[in-house]
Amino acid sequence: MISRRGFLGLLGGAGLAIAGCGTEVSGEALTSALPLPPKFTVPLPIPKTAVPVRPGHYEVVQRASKMEIIPGTTTEVWGYDGMFPGPTFDLRRGSRTILRVRNELPVPTSTHLHGGVTPPDSDGYPTDLVVAPGQGFRPPHGDHSHHMSWTVHQGAKDYVYPLEQRAATLWYHDHRMDFTGPQVWRGLAGFLIVRDDEDDALPLPKGERDIPLMICDRAFEEDGSFRFPSLDPSLLIRPGVQDAYMEGVEGDVILVNGAPWPILEVDAVRYRLRLLNASNARRYRLALTPGGHFIQVGSDQGLLTAPVAHDAITIAPGERFDVIVDFSAYPVGTDVTMTDRLGGEVMRFRVTRKAKDDSATPKRLSAVEPVAPAVATRTFDFRRTGQGGGASWTINGQRYRPGRALATPHLGSTEIWRFTSDFHHPVHVHLARFHVLSRNGRPPALTDAGWKDTVDVRPYEVVDVLARFDGYRGRYMIHCHNLEHEDMAMMADFDVI
Ligand code: C2O
Ligand code: CU
Ligand code: CU
Repeated sequence: MISRRGFLGLLGGAGLAIAGCGTEVSGEALTSALPLPPKFTVPLPIPKTAVPVRPGHYEVVQRASKMEIIPGTTTEVWGYDGMFPGPTFDLRRGSRTILRVRNELPVPTSTHLHGGVTPPDSDGYPTDLVVAPGQGFRPPHGDHSHHMSWTVHQGAKDYVYPLEQRAATLWYHDHRMDFTGPQVWRGLAGFLIVRDDEDDALPLPKGERDIPLMICDRAFEEDGSFRFPSLDPSLLIRPGVQDAYMEGVEGDVILVNGAPWPILEVDAVRYRLRLLNASNARRYRLALTPGGHFIQVGSDQGLLTAPVAHDAITIAPGERFDVIVDFSAYPVGTDVTMTDRLGGEVMRFRVTRKAKDDSATPKRLSAVEPVAPAVATRTFDFRRTGQGGGASWTINGQRYRPGRALATPHLGSTEIWRFTSDFHHPVHVHLARFHVLSRNGRPPALTDAGWKDTVDVRPYEVVDVLARFDGYRGRYMIHCHNLEHEDMAMMADFDVI
């Protein structure tokens, strides 16, 4: 138990506020010690595109660096190439890519490509670690560590991404056992966009009008450093503090591509926005003010069959929505704010000029793929188990234990997986892609359309998905993508056989 809870260490009571009673709130508020920056003044950054060292080979260094996130202060980030977000990998379907990740951080890491159809030894398993050269690794003491077998790569690991999958907005992030929350909070996340001929052939907005938006919340100390309820991720338990954040950590500053409440000047034309919720625990209900629609063209795993119009999009941690916004619907000079109807604002677009627009949103986007009938049904119950200091988040009553598989689907098969829950649990399945079949026996939400890899399961809900297991045999994971829940044992292995 001790090691599992280890990340919730310092900070004591100062500045900690407790929220979390409303049913829409999925974490607990962490308040910044510095004055919050003004909104809509910092220009939206666009993460730079990674360049291969030679065809098919990329290298990235996980290192600390200083960034000016809150104007006038500096923040130490732990980033891929020292950047937060990390570089965007812009790759094509079927272009087998070797990504060498070098670790120069004081902590072990494991890099997972979220949404990737990736062989198991490159999937970023939590105990498959990379440590900085000369940095030792001592397995944690405590409850389950004697069951764990660790793989430790000195200095670097080569991750192999065959990318035999449809065009989609994927993202990569740290997945280290027990410490994913604090390590992603410090900056270890970025985009990987898969493109293919089907998606390219559509007249959707392209180039500078195709923009990835990584949305996440953070809190800051007075000196600009990130505030998190553990100063040292290697620190073990500090009794009494951990329970305050068991539900998940929510910051009070909303960042998009690493900038607080940024602003983007846009032409009065269509844009394709690839929305990603990379927050540890926060859900958002995104909407546009003064009105307007998001026309959804893609989900976690690529194009929908046909566009779907939304007034508002609820996006849970790990989910992606690929949307078209037509800024020609607003007069030049309009400020269009992306708000969060669960409380707050996210960023602003300023419509600055008229321009030519060759793009369109076709009525048909992608062929309907037939899905074979399910050969099995399995239930995964996401629930808090135990009391007080002994409480943890569990799946089917079990805390995560590496190597113990809760399911063994056959390669190439389709199964119904039923997710039940006691709270907000964004459920993510590695390797597989799924369709949401029903919520509480009723039809899924409008925002559940398409192939997905993460689904927003709400308190006391029963969500059925039809999942396909294509790609590779081996050990994969299902887990809650609230990173504090994940770090507190709400994960399980499954073996594709
Ligand atoms: Cu995005 Cu296993 O995680
Ligand atoms: Cu994943
Ligand atoms: Cu959860």
